[in-house]
Amino acid sequence: MVTSTGADGTMIGHFDVERARRETPGVQSVIHLNNAGSALPPAPVLGAVIDHLRLEAALGGYEAADTAREAVEHTYDAVAALLGCRPDEIAVVENATRAWDMAFYAMRFQPGDRILTARAEYASNVIAFLQVARRTGAVVEVIPDDEFGQVSVDALERMLDERVRLVAITHVPTQGGLVNPAAAIGSVTRAAGVPYLLDACQSVGQFPVRVDEIGCDMLSATGRKFLRGPRATGFLYVRREIIEQLEPPFLDLHAAEWTAPDRYEIRPDARRFENWETNYATKIGLSVAVDYALGWGLEAIQHRTTTLAESLRERLVGISGVTVHDQGAQRCAIVTFTKEGFSATDVSTRLREVGINTSVTSVESARFDFEARGLTEMVRVSPHYYNTHGELDRLCALIEGRSRP
Ligand SMILES: Cc1ncc(COP(=O)(O)O)c(C=O)c1O
Repeated sequence: MVTSTGADGTMIGHFDVERARRETPGVQSVIHLNNAGSALPPAPVLGAVIDHLRLEAALGGYEAADTAREAVEHTYDAVAALLGCRPDEIAVVENATRAWDMAFYAMRFQPGDRILTARAEYASNVIAFLQVARRTGAVVEVIPDDEFGQVSVDALERMLDERVRLVAITHVPTQGGLVNPAAAIGSVTRAAGVPYLLDACQSVGQFPVRVDEIGCDMLSATGRKFLRGPRATGFLYVRREIIEQLEPPFLDLHAAEWTAPDRYEIRPDARRFENWETNYATKIGLSVAVDYALGWGLEAIQHRTTTLAESLRERLVGISGVTVHDQGAQRCAIVTFTKEGFSATDVSTRLREVGINTSVTSVESARFDFEARGLTEMVRVSPHYYNTHGELDRLCALIEGRSRP
């Protein structure tokens, strides 16, 4: 195999799949193609979480946190290295939605303010827009797609005016392989001085996502998906210059200090978006997952996962009755399809029965997009670098009906 070197110095043409599988206990028991749901964790992540739980059991929860202080603090350095920002621009919270909410609900809107979003936007984000629009009189507008089905940057540019208070985009949607042009959007919002919130829940961990290159002001992501971290971990990036302009929707004695009976002071760093009690075991696990991903190199991961996904798309389009639905000029490791005569739920359930994990993505999770495309549900297959072409063969044989469980 040809090897070449990525910008981060790692080899991108060769991927040590055997090592990746050796270090992933779950591949022994399942063909896991639901990494957009929650990936199989690598052994070091699993070990770190279990070790800390053992430490808590042995020492006491607070004492264990104290003992592991360095490992806990390292989470901020690791996430900052991953995103190309400073550790004090990172908040670690319990999931991507909470991270996104802490940024979004910190913003102030007035009647007539415009919130611009994408057609592919995730349901929870749109529900929040609608709630805030109802409360404040702000309006939510969807930026049209271009001919590839991704956000039209030209259309966005034309829509920008002094009433636009926020551009909030989902980088990679839950419902397909589309990668929205995050950096091109960033150039336009920066030039216009409009805050830009990027939902990078599905993109972080599957390819390089660097805020210094994208130019977003806020970014939310999760640990459990392509980063392969523990469940119930997430993080928020907020650009240093705007942290102190954003008052978190909730405060506690971690986010702020009670300085006098009638006064408090909010922390100056991004940890103002966190709260005091947290799961230390999974927080450490998240930092191990980030280091682990950086160890492989995000370009190398991208090369491997997109190769698997493109090869899967090619095979699927050759199966009679199957339609692949992924859009975008650039596509990633989320593959969506439907099969004539079968519901997506049926297909995914039958695969699960024979030890292949996929998932179903449905209209409730991205209504603007599903309705525009006349779809209600699709099977979602999301390979990671530890999956093999052999696993995809088995999947396709079952979808085609060539192979019996
Ligand atoms: C695009 C997108 N944004 C946000 C979320 C929510 O992430 P979490 O469940 O970590 O809150 C998801 C979850 O699937 C997602 O796909």
